[in-house]
Amino acid sequence: MKKHADKWRVSYQRTIEYDVVRSPNLFDFENTALLYPGVAENNRRFVVIDDVVEKYYADDIRNFFKQHGVEAKIVVFPSTEENKTLESYLYFVQELDAFPIHRRDEPIIAIGGGVLTDVISFVASSYRRSVPHIKVPTTLMGYVDASIGIKTGINFEGHKNRLGSFEPPLKVLLDKSFLKTLPKRHVLNGVYEIIKLAIIKDIELLALLEEYGKESVDAQFQNGMGDVILDRAISSMLEELEPNLYEDDLTRKVDFGHTFSYGLEIYNGSDLLHGEAVLLDIIVSLMIARDRDLLTNLELERIFKLIDDLGIILDISVLDPDVLWESLEERTCHRNGVQRVPMPDGLGNCVFLNDIELHEIQTACQALSNRVVLEYERTI
Ligand SMILES: NC(=O)c1ccc[n+]([C@@H]2O[C@H](COP(=O)([O-])OP(=O)(O)OC[C@H]3O[C@@H](n4cnc5c(N)ncnc54)[C@H](O)[C@@H]3O)[C@@H](O)[C@H]2O)c1
Repeated sequence: MKKHADKWRVSYQRTIEYDVVRSPNLFDFENTALLYPGVAENNRRFVVIDDVVEKYYADDIRNFFKQHGVEAKIVVFPSTEENKTLESYLYFVQELDAFPIHRRDEPIIAIGGGVLTDVISFVASSYRRSVPHIKVPTTLMGYVDASIGIKTGINFEGHKNRLGSFEPPLKVLLDKSFLKTLPKRHVLNGVYEIIKLAIIKDIELLALLEEYGKESVDAQFQNGMGDVILDRAISSMLEELEPNLYEDDLTRKVDFGHTFSYGLEIYNGSDLLHGEAVLLDIIVSLMIARDRDLLTNLELERIFKLIDDLGIILDISVLDPDVLWESLEERTCHRNGVQRVPMPDGLGNCVFLNDIELHEIQTACQALSNRVVLEYERTI
């Protein structure tokens, strides 16, 4: 008879469920969404808020918690990409230690853009091995992308999101009135992620952008059709994220625009916002797709027209084919040794390429710069 076991199989399943929910007038006394999962005696909340948002809402937030008898520690975070660091992460851990919260029923609340929600959700995922958190996006990038999934992250040693985790929030609360104060550059920054979805998987979203995109950008998405675009973008994004929350499948449509952009962001630092790098990646990808007969010239021009109509000025001077190639190699490593580059196959459809070569990137960049010269000559 055997005296010892050779193997123990551990198997455990956990359901991931959270709501992404519209919650207008977030700091009104009657709106108790922020107090989820409820308020008991002596409740506390650790609230981190973007420094710009705090300027507009500081009093409302403090009053809200005070009126509900909740002791809130409000920590203000100057959340720019340069602050998405290990130092910021450790700072929040220390602040949490100085303000002990219950491990289950006093969720951390993160109110801000993608940088803030990425950092704070990473803190939440690791503090005491995971405490609950609620995300409130205040940028368009957060609203349609960064806050609605479960990825967390901080930059490390020059690599974007090198440290991070997958951590579902308790809830994501959407109040689009935050977008009213967003600078135009940051509104467009979020629009680029919507354009990404439209090209790679959602032709109706593309049509909406063509018809109501400009009006919605001008109205900071406070208009009715802006709502329709936001709804469609969120649904479309979640449709991709939900079945693959933990990225078990590394072949992801939502990675469109996220192959060459990685290197562009690193090389250009704070001069290039995340969405701006994504848009540049998209146009390089479109040129490659056209050269492979995956897109027609008409389809290509349709996207350039949209970019024009939205008032977007493309700066292609940062497109260095060697940087783009290095970025592709890095992403290939990230995607387990296979390129898996999503490319449009006609507008609204996607294929994945695993055999892109440097000369295709060089040709694409050259064609883009020829195009800019032609445009310029046309205007003089
Ligand atoms: N986790 C994910 O799945 C995911 C997805 C996409 C992007 N991201 C990350 O998101 C980050 C970019 O997010 P972002 O574009 O929101 O940047 P951000 O968080 O830096 O915010 C942009 C700027 O807007 C300001 N701001 C925020 N809300 C405002 C408001 N309501 N009014 C006026 N100003 C406001 C901020 O202070 C900041 O200066 C990147 O680090 C990117 O890696 C993460």
